[in-house]
Amino acid sequence: MSKVTVVGAGNVGATCANVLAHKDVVKEVVLLDIQGDLARGKALDSWQQAPIDYYSTSLVGTEDYSLTADSDIVVITAGVPRKPGMSRDDLISTNAKIVNIVTSSIMKHSKNPIIIVVSNPLDVMTYAAYKASGLDKTRVFGMAGILDTARYRAFLATALNVSPKDIQAVLMGGHGDTMVPLPRYTTVSGIPVTDMIGGAELDAIVERTKKGGGELVKLMGTSAWYAPGAAAAQMVETIVRDENRIFPCCARLEGEYGLNDIFLGVPVKLGKNGIEQVIELNLNSDESALLNTSADHVRAVMEVFEGMDIS
Ligand code: NAI
Ligand code: 2OP
Repeated sequence: MSKVTVVGAGNVGATCANVLAHKDVVKEVVLLDIQGDLARGKALDSWQQAPIDYYSTSLVGTEDYSLTADSDIVVITAGVPRKPGMSRDDLISTNAKIVNIVTSSIMKHSKNPIIIVVSNPLDVMTYAAYKASGLDKTRVFGMAGILDTARYRAFLATALNVSPKDIQAVLMGGHGDTMVPLPRYTTVSGIPVTDMIGGAELDAIVERTKKGGGELVKLMGTSAWYAPGAAAAQMVETIVRDENRIFPCCARLEGEYGLNDIFLGVPVKLGKNGIEQVIELNLNSDESALLNTSADHVRAVMEVFEGMDIS
């Protein structure tokens, strides 16, 4: 049975901890936040839900990193979310420092955890955690692709009036408006999606997906949390159960897709060691061009990060 720490007890972190507890696949979830009472309160509230919803996962809230000792998996959601009018990249100056200090603090108490980054700008914050942790590239990766693909699948389910369960899809690239949904790899129970929906409608869904995070920020004044929290919890579950499920995740590329030294969304196999394999699809020239544009965008934000003093 595993121990999982979720750093950041805000909207996404608390949702992730709560969804994870409901799955009943780990022994303990430590919810850590710089606002200790917020973490204590949300952990206690979730624990008091256990007798109602029947789970045994215990939840502890704290601001004290010593309670995270020997965590098997750490989910980092600490940082500020965007407000209307902001892009994810606007968050870098605040969140880079937070992710750096959180990762260093975690590593003082856990020797070889798997780290899942959620804080934005996601691809570069995953790189920041990788650098600060000194962990192998297979043990530090980011959550975005499951969320972005879920949005795409949900929009398609509505348009086709089918269950979202039956929509399978892959989406690649950075977690931003340059992300690359791949209609060629989208099926409805094995039926190519292009057999079921017209090109113009599909294009509109792809465009809506790319701006899916911003749509919610406009509606709520802050960014989404139910689907993001559940997506991070699904990654934890897959690792703990050693399921080898294939999900789009933000992973370090060293030659795959012709890209080097960059964290970017690609399909990976997730198991007990973290990233067991990066799956290389045979992208056509249009898809490759879109992926390269997305990589260029992430690299531009990485340059801002490299130029920052985050100590
Ligand atoms: P939130 O504001 O509700 O929660 C953030 C929490 O982090 C706060 O409780 C705050 O006290 C805590 N925090 C700040 N500095 C800290 C530190 N040094 N140590 C420990 N805790 C600290 O924000 P929300 O909505 O939960 O979003 C969190 C992050 O996740 C944001 O950066 C947001 O952009 C990102 N996000 C990423 C998604 C993705 O797909 N990768 C999806 C949704 C959000
Ligand atoms: C989202 O896509 C803002 O990254 C966050 O909802």
